[in-house]
Amino acid sequence: MVVSEIRTIGVVGLGAMGAGIAQLTIEARYETIGREVTEELGHQARGRIAHFLQRKVDKERMSAADRDAALVHLSLTTELADLADCDLVIEAIVEDLDAKRALFAELEGIVRPNAILATNTSALSVTEIAAAVELSARVVGMHFFNPAPLMPLVEIVRAELSSDDAVETAYAVGERLGKRPIRCHDTPGFVVNRVLIPVLNDCLRVLDEARVSPEDLDTAMTAGAGWPMGPCTLVDLVGIDVHVHASEALYEKLREPRMAPPPRIVAMKNAGLLGRKSGRGFYVYE
Ligand SMILES: NC(=O)c1ccc[n+]([C@@H]2O[C@H](COP(=O)([O-])OP(=O)(O)OC[C@H]3O[C@@H](n4cnc5c(N)ncnc54)[C@H](O)[C@@H]3O)[C@@H](O)[C@H]2O)c1
Repeated sequence: MVVSEIRTIGVVGLGAMGAGIAQLTIEARYETIGREVTEELGHQARGRIAHFLQRKVDKERMSAADRDAALVHLSLTTELADLADCDLVIEAIVEDLDAKRALFAELEGIVRPNAILATNTSALSVTEIAAAVELSARVVGMHFFNPAPLMPLVEIVRAELSSDDAVETAYAVGERLGKRPIRCHDTPGFVVNRVLIPVLNDCLRVLDEARVSPEDLDTAMTAGAGWPMGPCTLVDLVGIDVHVHASEALYEKLREPRMAPPPRIVAMKNAGLLGRKSGRGFYVYE
């Protein structure tokens, strides 16, 4: 099997996920071109990346020289055409099928025919995104977890027409980024969310069914099931809006009642209780 050599990686969208992915690619010494919609958003992303690298230096997990060497590998643009020489482009823009399909179609006219196009979508079909390009064999999913620099897993998702070369190349890149890649096919929720979302929703239903407090539910699952963190703590960390959105997306595709977000958590989202990021969810954060 031929695994294409990747030297230059484009990252499109430098929000929460894209900036984290770009941090990983520059730390792994890939030439990285980050594309945002405005220069200001690009510079903000570079600032966040520099901040996180500095924290690694402060914690003596990275030398100042390595920090500087990594940052040299990051260039920014607002022009998609500047991604022409990329061997791999990782897309991390908004979770919207039409926006992703339009981007992939535009990218296909810019990059070389053997360049690989990867999407970081959590809940959309990689196959539907791939159908927007002519050479759809080059499209795969690379599903990183949030925060990308810290979470070890990346799901390498094979769409219906993905080539072995594209899948194996993405897998090899995942390894070079220091991740633990896994291979899976393009099904709703891939692996982790397909398992985790209904389990978390079951946990949240038990809050009302068993009239247990969030603290006691978390204790039950950490002390009784060996979970590293309780379900209420986890949903607060992920973001209640993000969890509701993922649940709705899975429910829409699979129509299994367990996938649907429990009314209690939808009400929390509507009230602006989003978990850690809003200062209040199941718990209150200072
Ligand atoms: N946040 C998570 O927990 C998480 C985890 C795994 C995967 N994902 C997926 O990653 C993707 C990005 O999510 P996020 O949380 O980083 O979103 P985000 O809103 O933080 O970032 C998206 C960024 O993309 C930019 N953008 C939009 N259109 C663009 C375009 N055409 N070109 C360049 N930049 C563009 C926006 O300006 C924004 O900065 C989504 O598909 C999401 O489902 C998110």
